[in-house]
Amino acid sequence: MSSQNLDQNIPLPPGKFGLPLIGETINFLTDQDFALKRYQKYGSIFKTNILGKPTAVMIGSEANKFILQSHFDHFSWAKGWPATFQELLGKSLFLQDGEEHKKNRKLLMPSFHGQALINYFETMESIIKSYLNKWEKQQNFTWFSELKQMTFEIASVLLLGSERGDKIDYLSNLFTDLSNGLFTIPLKIPGTKYSKAIRGRDLLLQHLEQEIIKRKENPSNDALSLLVQTQDEDGNSLSINEIKVQALLMLFAGHETTTSMLTSLCLVLAQHPDILDQAKKEQEKLQNTDIITLEQIKNMTYLDQVLKEVERLYPPVAGGFRGVVKPFTFNGYYVPQGWQILYSIQLTHQNSEIFTNPKTFDPQRFNKEREEHRKTEYSLVGFGGGSRFCLGYAFAQMEMKIFAALLIRNYHWNLEQGQDLSLNRIPTLHPNSGLKVKEFQPLPK
Ligand code: HEM
Repeated sequence: MSSQNLDQNIPLPPGKFGLPLIGETINFLTDQDFALKRYQKYGSIFKTNILGKPTAVMIGSEANKFILQSHFDHFSWAKGWPATFQELLGKSLFLQDGEEHKKNRKLLMPSFHGQALINYFETMESIIKSYLNKWEKQQNFTWFSELKQMTFEIASVLLLGSERGDKIDYLSNLFTDLSNGLFTIPLKIPGTKYSKAIRGRDLLLQHLEQEIIKRKENPSNDALSLLVQTQDEDGNSLSINEIKVQALLMLFAGHETTTSMLTSLCLVLAQHPDILDQAKKEQEKLQNTDIITLEQIKNMTYLDQVLKEVERLYPPVAGGFRGVVKPFTFNGYYVPQGWQILYSIQLTHQNSEIFTNPKTFDPQRFNKEREEHRKTEYSLVGFGGGSRFCLGYAFAQMEMKIFAALLIRNYHWNLEQGQDLSLNRIPTLHPNSGLKVKEFQPLPK
């Protein structure tokens, strides 16, 4: 594979552009197997036209490595996101490339690693416990919406330093308005979803500006305070305007994805009593007090395997878009500048050459003896890969492990019979029913 000596005779990838203007967008948005069907027909690269642009969909670990690592400079994140993202999420990390991205990622890094993460532990645990107590009283509830509230609260308390309580509901509502605008037609007419989203964005940014000014005077332990104080070795720091948009992005990236993965975790634990049992045994071995410690989190090997398997079979993000800024050839096909590409996380994870019986939920594929994901580079990519690997990975892992450990150690639950467990991808992967739980009860001590 090369990107040099491009020759007019090199063919474009196989596939169809579809209808004028809309291309195959409707199919892409409504058919869960859109990419699978074309992958089976055309192989690891095919062309289509979706979301207003000619697109090459690229599938498999080799394609992932090409995009995320070896030919990284051919692709732009900023040019890969729809216009609605650019307007609603501003010039945040998602929409930056090159040196600008490198500099800002470095400045944001300390808020998600090391001491900052250790400082978040207790608050995460306390918010998660308050939700478990609430559910214990309710007994019957829907997990997806509850987990969304929980992860939003964790993100806004730890990242923005919000007070728990009313303000969170207010912020959460504004945020829902903003998210609803990301996948709509950007019509700025009063009453449309999009104009509501713009209003939500403006009020959130207003709120963030006030909070940043407060943190400048009185820093605390949240990520916003760290961002206000952070400087890199060249003395670069972020302006108030830059911090505002980066903080908004953190809130966006930080809770919808985690909600999806936790919902899938709750689903598989209920569907596989043997796996739940084994996870319980691991917790029993670790549990010498009622309190979970950071040290214990590092030793939850089996839970780690379960979470990897959830990431593989239920990836919250199905793939990633990029704009093509330099033409290239892949597997003998030419992709011109100005197209977009989509790399498929979901289909890579279902490749039977990498994962044995890929449709089976089997956490043991990640045990020390098998380690199926280590045999081929870029085969487990639920958090992306390369230099733009998910910034919140460690934050999300800590949150998910505290949640899972408290749940497994202390509670028993059943799923409501007859609910629609078929999967919906929008806004992030979840069962259509939202995962209805009944008889959520503490385990006898
Ligand atoms: C289960 C939870 C999560 C999943 C599955 C997930 C997944 C991903 C994926 C797949 C990417 C790369 C997308 C691409 O290549 O196009 C990404 C990037 C990113 N994620 Fe996450 N994420 C999660 C949690 C979080 C959290 C908690 C935060 C922040 C608090 C976060 C912040 C980010 C940021 C800022 C980027 C962009 C990094 C960059 O461009 O340098 N994520 N995430």
